[in-house]
Amino acid sequence: MTRKLVLLRHGQSQWNLENRFTGWVDVDLTEQGRAEAAAGGRLMREEGLHFDVAYTSTLKRAIRTLNLALGELDQDWLPVHKSWRLNERHYGALQGLDKAETAAKHGEEQVKIWRRSYDIPPPPMALDDPGHPANDPRYAGLDRNALPSTESLATTLDRVLPYWHDAIAPALKEGKDVLVAAHGNSLRALYKYLNDVSREEILELNIPTGIPLLFELDDELKVQSYRYLGDPEAAKRAAEAVANQGKAK
Ligand code: 3PG
Repeated sequence: MTRKLVLLRHGQSQWNLENRFTGWVDVDLTEQGRAEAAAGGRLMREEGLHFDVAYTSTLKRAIRTLNLALGELDQDWLPVHKSWRLNERHYGALQGLDKAETAAKHGEEQVKIWRRSYDIPPPPMALDDPGHPANDPRYAGLDRNALPSTESLATTLDRVLPYWHDAIAPALKEGKDVLVAAHGNSLRALYKYLNDVSREEILELNIPTGIPLLFELDDELKVQSYRYLGDPEAAKRAAEAVANQGKAK
């Protein structure tokens, strides 16, 4: 039996629009982002998808994307689980900075390393920074040492994977179809794991906003197939636009 897993990156956020490193900063969707989320929901509806459960992060751009998509699917009632483990990769001291200005200052190569390398994290955020997750009440119940000051893709994968193994994979093994609404880099981490992508190849992977990525998995949760819903060329262009956000103007 195959089961379906859809990975959906949130629609355009205010800081995607402003081209700023966002990470764990809880910015909202733009009007375009809300439209992208609804369009993603319509693509899933046209594909005939019905989900049994959904997972998202603790950040509103992903939560609101999920709600808008579920509305289009007429599945507003679906059980939804939220976890910090699906949050965006923490962008450390880069959070809030303009990506193109950062590329002009430090070079496009350095920005690509910070954005896309497997195991090189951006410079850390100070623990006493009011924006540090240790100072955010939503994470108050968690071990302070588990909360990041910065993350590479590798350390993002380290904190996403326990949630995959404890929550998402068991649901899929029960035969449930699952929707995960999350973020560019938490989804790159999952994609790397599912498709066993090398650390070199993952450098070139960019996930567009609001376009559902449908996986079909076998009983052992091995990937049978995967594809973006809708026009493949549109998905490719949108992924290229994400890659270009790190270019100096
Ligand atoms: C961010 O956190 O800035 C974005 O959500 C993802 O950014 P990236 O494409 O620069 O990794």
